Amino acid sequence: MEPVKVGILGLGTVGGGTVNVLIRNAEEIARRAGRGILITHAAAREYDPRAIRGLDNMLVTEDAFEVVDDPAVAIVIELIGGYSPAKELVLRAIANGKHVVTANKALIALHGNEIFSAAQRKGVTVAFEAAVAGGIPIIKAMREGLAANRIEWVAGIINGTGNFILSEMRDKGRAFTEVLAEAQSLGYAEADPTFDVEGIDAAHKLTILGSIAFGIPLQFDRTYIEGITQVEPQDVVHAEVLGYRIKHLGIARKTAQGVELRVHPTLIPERRLIANVDGVMNAVLVKGDAVGPTLYYGAGAGSEPTASAVVADLVDVVRALTTDPENRVPHLAFQPGELSNVPVLPIDEVRTAFYLRLRVVDEPGVMAEIAGILGQARISIEAIQQKEPTREGGEIALILLTRQVREGDMKEAIAKIEQLDSVKGQVVRIRVEHLSG
Ligand code: HSE
Repeated sequence: MEPVKVGILGLGTVGGGTVNVLIRNAEEIARRAGRGILITHAAAREYDPRAIRGLDNMLVTEDAFEVVDDPAVAIVIELIGGYSPAKELVLRAIANGKHVVTANKALIALHGNEIFSAAQRKGVTVAFEAAVAGGIPIIKAMREGLAANRIEWVAGIINGTGNFILSEMRDKGRAFTEVLAEAQSLGYAEADPTFDVEGIDAAHKLTILGSIAFGIPLQFDRTYIEGITQVEPQDVVHAEVLGYRIKHLGIARKTAQGVELRVHPTLIPERRLIANVDGVMNAVLVKGDAVGPTLYYGAGAGSEPTASAVVADLVDVVRALTTDPENRVPHLAFQPGELSNVPVLPIDEVRTAFYLRLRVVDEPGVMAEIAGILGQARISIEAIQQKEPTREGGEIALILLTRQVREGDMKEAIAKIEQLDSVKGQVVRIRVEHLSG
């Protein structure tokens, strides 16, 4: 059978890796797909010709629309990232009857509902495994492997750059900006690295995971977002003393009231496997009612790990080229007409435990005042640590771990605590998750 002709948009870190993996493993990939897969047309403004194989056998243009309009191309791989012109290119490829493979989480999280509807009307597939957790086949695992389950919650380290920064800060005491620069030079970071460190990239990915887990439309604008820029080295140390690690987690949970979608720094017990996922590695923990907790681990960013997911999607699309569209795996795991409108909860309605760090004057009665406010709000304290003052009559750091509390109630209690004369500055608060099965 003739090889399938593919167009690719972008020959950067992931694009270059995709071309190289496809060429290096061509024979095995063809045995799996049932046909050869050939990249015949590429669009790229800047690329390193020495780092990419097979360029002589493809037409390379600067105009990405030329590729999506090429009648010979059956599948378009979109790896240019960002919202625009990626959205216009993907919609045009769909309108032209082409299948699409993309690594673009921002595009799927914000415009996925519209893109999937267009694809469904046209009977084509938009595959996006590489959009979440780099090389880990988490979309496939959740959409197909866990199809028997009611998913209860998902918790993941889903930004490699952020995890790399937190790991290097903790293990080697390196400065934030220096580690971020290294992540950029290794091709891990987004074009705008604030997406990594402010939690936006993780929120894009969590939005997608939440939809696949619970069968709800993509709702990026309802996902709660905090990044890692506010994490202070002293909290990393205090957390370790208490037996916890601070990780930037994306959490999606179904409760009786609705769905939680949130990304933020989180204390997790150091004995959990996921607490020991370091560097650029990602991990996603999924709790299904039948299977229990399952853990998926692998490289979350980088050239060939992400290319691994892109090529796996290509193989899936090629295998399904001759199947009826209604017999393909639905984009968001549930049949398009079966998505539910269960509400995404505002963060104030979410219940978690908390780590609090307060700066207080070293005087009798201070702890009683703070405990009184927490008691009135019915917030139970699980552990307290008091750090020695650095000088006579000076201020001390007070570390508290609470039991689960509604976030809105915790905010009110913190506002009252901050008004006490004995409490100096703002109370630092980080959510705590035990992630027990
Ligand atoms: N910037 C992303 C990360 C790339 O660091 O995880 C992979 O999506």
